[in-house]
Amino acid sequence: MLQYFDPKQQEYDKDFGTPASVSENLVTLEIDGVSITVPEGTSVMRAAALADINIPKLCASDNLEAFGSCRICAVEIEGRRGTPASCTTPAETGMKVTTQNKRLGKLRRNIMELYISDHPLDCLTCPANGNCELQDVAGEVGLREVRYGFSGDNHLQAEKDHSNPYFSFDPSKCIVCSRCVRACSEVQGTFALTIDGRGFDSKVSPGQSETFLDSECVSCGACVQACPTSTLMEKSVIQAGQPEHSIVTTCAYCGVGCQFKAEMKGSEVIRMMPYKGGQANHGHSCVKGRFAFGYATHEDRITKPMIRDSIDQPWQEVSWDEALNFAATKLRGIQEKYGRDSIGGITSSRCTNEETYLVQKLIRAAFGNNNTDTCARVCHSPTGYGLKTTLGESAGTQTFDSVMHADAIMVIGANPTDAHPVFGSLLKKRLRQGAKLIVADPRRIDLVKTPHVETHHHLSLRPGSNVAFVNAMAHVIISEGLEDKAFIAERCETEAFLAWRSFISEERHSPENTESITGIPAAELRSAARIYATAKNAAIYYGLGVTEHSQGSSMVMGIANLALATGNIGREGVGVNPLRGQNNVQGSCDMGSFPHELPGYQHVSDDIVRARFESAWGVKLDNEPGLRIPNMFDAALDGTYKGMYCQGEDIAQSDPNTNHVHAAMRSLECLVVQDIFLNETAKFAHVFLPGSSFLEKDGTFTNAERRINRVRKVMPPLAGKQDWEVTQALSNALGYPMNYNHPSEIMDEIAQLTPTFTNVSYQRLEQLGSIQWPCNEAAPEGTPIMHLQSFPIGKGHFAITEYVATEERSTRKYPLLLTTGRTLSQYNVGAQTRRTDNQVWHDDDLLELHPQDAEDRGIKDGDWVGITSRAGETVMLAKISDRMQPGVVYTTFHHPHSGANVVTTDNSDWATNCPEYKVTAVQAVKVTEPSDWQQRYHEFHQQQMIHLNTARQEAGSGKPKVTGE
Ligand code: SF4
Ligand code: SF4
Ligand code: SF4
Ligand code: FES
Repeated sequence: MLQYFDPKQQEYDKDFGTPASVSENLVTLEIDGVSITVPEGTSVMRAAALADINIPKLCASDNLEAFGSCRICAVEIEGRRGTPASCTTPAETGMKVTTQNKRLGKLRRNIMELYISDHPLDCLTCPANGNCELQDVAGEVGLREVRYGFSGDNHLQAEKDHSNPYFSFDPSKCIVCSRCVRACSEVQGTFALTIDGRGFDSKVSPGQSETFLDSECVSCGACVQACPTSTLMEKSVIQAGQPEHSIVTTCAYCGVGCQFKAEMKGSEVIRMMPYKGGQANHGHSCVKGRFAFGYATHEDRITKPMIRDSIDQPWQEVSWDEALNFAATKLRGIQEKYGRDSIGGITSSRCTNEETYLVQKLIRAAFGNNNTDTCARVCHSPTGYGLKTTLGESAGTQTFDSVMHADAIMVIGANPTDAHPVFGSLLKKRLRQGAKLIVADPRRIDLVKTPHVETHHHLSLRPGSNVAFVNAMAHVIISEGLEDKAFIAERCETEAFLAWRSFISEERHSPENTESITGIPAAELRSAARIYATAKNAAIYYGLGVTEHSQGSSMVMGIANLALATGNIGREGVGVNPLRGQNNVQGSCDMGSFPHELPGYQHVSDDIVRARFESAWGVKLDNEPGLRIPNMFDAALDGTYKGMYCQGEDIAQSDPNTNHVHAAMRSLECLVVQDIFLNETAKFAHVFLPGSSFLEKDGTFTNAERRINRVRKVMPPLAGKQDWEVTQALSNALGYPMNYNHPSEIMDEIAQLTPTFTNVSYQRLEQLGSIQWPCNEAAPEGTPIMHLQSFPIGKGHFAITEYVATEERSTRKYPLLLTTGRTLSQYNVGAQTRRTDNQVWHDDDLLELHPQDAEDRGIKDGDWVGITSRAGETVMLAKISDRMQPGVVYTTFHHPHSGANVVTTDNSDWATNCPEYKVTAVQAVKVTEPSDWQQRYHEFHQQQMIHLNTARQEAGSGKPKVTGE
């Protein structure tokens, strides 16, 4: 089996002391007799490190601005008095620097003596032993004695803080270098830490002298990573000791696609260390990627294949062959009885590109139909439709780094600090540099009130009014003559533009006329439109608050219209950027998961395209699009859809109108679920095929920037097979042969059949680290920024976006509008994060409501609230919150028992059927007990756990247990 390691890992492991300068002017200096040329603005310390001359340092790190507090990095510079700190001294032409001599050695030893006289001498039992910068520097400077003794005033008894579930704070080891404080401010942008007091009394303090858990800290771990001692230390390292090897891989949570070094002891992950070479995260992370990996070895993992004839029966553990043959026989039997189109499957945005590709291939080639869909159906399918129509490609236009060139940033229906936290930190950095911010969101997200960031506009629009809002923005731009006429003339279709201009100029789209729909004061909207249109570079970032609407596709097109009208496409700092929720939403769409598109968005009805796939796959393909997920549910209830293969997706929890979905699941004769846990969908399954976590397999994920990142196996699959091997084995059992030896061979086939992937291979990924597609003859190293000179459709296409009010509107019976979203510590349906210590931050879904709405209903914080819509009823705890606007309530959907999707309806986007999660008319009243649905859910859950435990008891393969959901 191939085992790849990033060849550049060593280079990225080096800390150059201060950040790189981007100046194009060069300076040449001499350090210890070595001549070196560096960009102007480079510190002497970094220049030396680039020449492999290492100056000792304690308070410096190359991800933080130089601070100059420890003085250990002092050097001599010819012609200058004293011993300046090399980290804060910029390199200059002609400088002659000495980094080592007797005087400097003595100075450094003196400094170290002071540090060590107030430091516990327990190196041998310290968790940082072997990986401690203080220890290293003491060794480097040759410290041999501490003349001051250890009996003076010290901090050795300072109280420890173990409140954070993942790291400890032991102030007795703190050297007050402030790297943690600066990491929290500069890298993470949370400003949770300060140095309190002065001189000897200085100490690191979270919040207002609170514990870490009670402070503003979001547990990103940047401070832990920055700490040169064991003051801030991962509990996993304290318990297990220092890791002994590492493998670079990619986070399996959100669409930012952070890369990590999985730091290991044998096959046990000790720590996930954000990888500096990760081109999406540059060494930063959030709480999920860095700390929430324990689910991968959680006792709830199912590692044995299981079968049963009916969901009312106990499971039976069987061999892989038995399970696969059982599934194949059932699925073929259904096809014989009900016809070829009576089965289908669902791919997952949590799985790798290679796995997703294989699932859709199995459906098309072995099932013989196009009944394949993906969970992107319920999140970003409107992005695919809207961007393809207007810009010609179904993907975001930029790199994440591009935001550092944006002068105005509009965030629409997205919550980057919770859902895309590492990008959120980068965005905040740009805002602190002075970029203007416009947030369009019904709820006051954290970005609106971030330290040292002044929001220029929070447009608190009413749920369901997106298209009226975007049309009003465009109306201002056109009616005030703010459009980029040259860009439009050169890059856009004239006829479509003229039609759109005449449409958007109509007075009914003016902010004054739409104010009653959007709730946004006209003057404020005008001001926001002017900021967006007149900025040198203006960028739009959007999320599911745009797509998950009955007009999701119209809104995406409306956003693209704005970017085209203002010429904000085709260079750094601009663009249209969908923030993808799950790790591989982009990839699962690229890989041909949709029922109408083969990999690379090639339509199944195109004879030439199909012929290429037929020749490569050796099978005749159906030329008719298959069923979308909602159609699958409807067909199941109609009795025409009877079998399904569902890999890594939990439709029973994530899809709207739970009652409808569960009824559809119950009507299937064979549901095959491949997952790592017995998730909500698996409770309705007849075959359970154990999946592998991201740590157990090779493959690739494609993030929101179209960046293809390698996923590398760091431990053997607990169930013995990687997910692609399971799909391959199922295909073989069905009689359609697949014989790949490694996911790299699957990628080679993808590259052969997908024009935007032509030059992608594992070898190329090893060379380049990651690749942003398109990557082909025209762009052999990939395409960081799209649409530089032209669009794949030639010219940009303005689309008419008529506002049509959703059918979901508040009524006397349902006077509130419910909108849903995510929270930082949990991920999607929560199957992974609920099995980690992230539970301390969010152990239940709450209903947030405005104080006025709460008072009108006599609801107090923590009360049980019954939420009723025309689809169903559930009960949650109330959280009174002034983030909400009156009339709008909000919740998350991370816990199955909260039943958020019991109330969401099957209203959906007109073009793609993406559900309208963001607008549900509801009533909320104080109640005293769970809803009927919750009681039924609880009984069903208990029954299914008994069925699982029976299988385990009979097989003797694990202690019986009933787990909570
Ligand atoms: S974990 Fe992150 S947010 Fe918390 S104090 Fe450290 S740097 Fe700040
Ligand atoms: S906790 Fe660590 S990083 Fe922070 S000031 Fe103390 S030694 Fe420096
Ligand atoms: S920002 Fe997203 S990709 Fe990065 S560590 Fe967090 S969850 Fe993982
Ligand atoms: S490393 Fe330069 S002053 Fe601390």
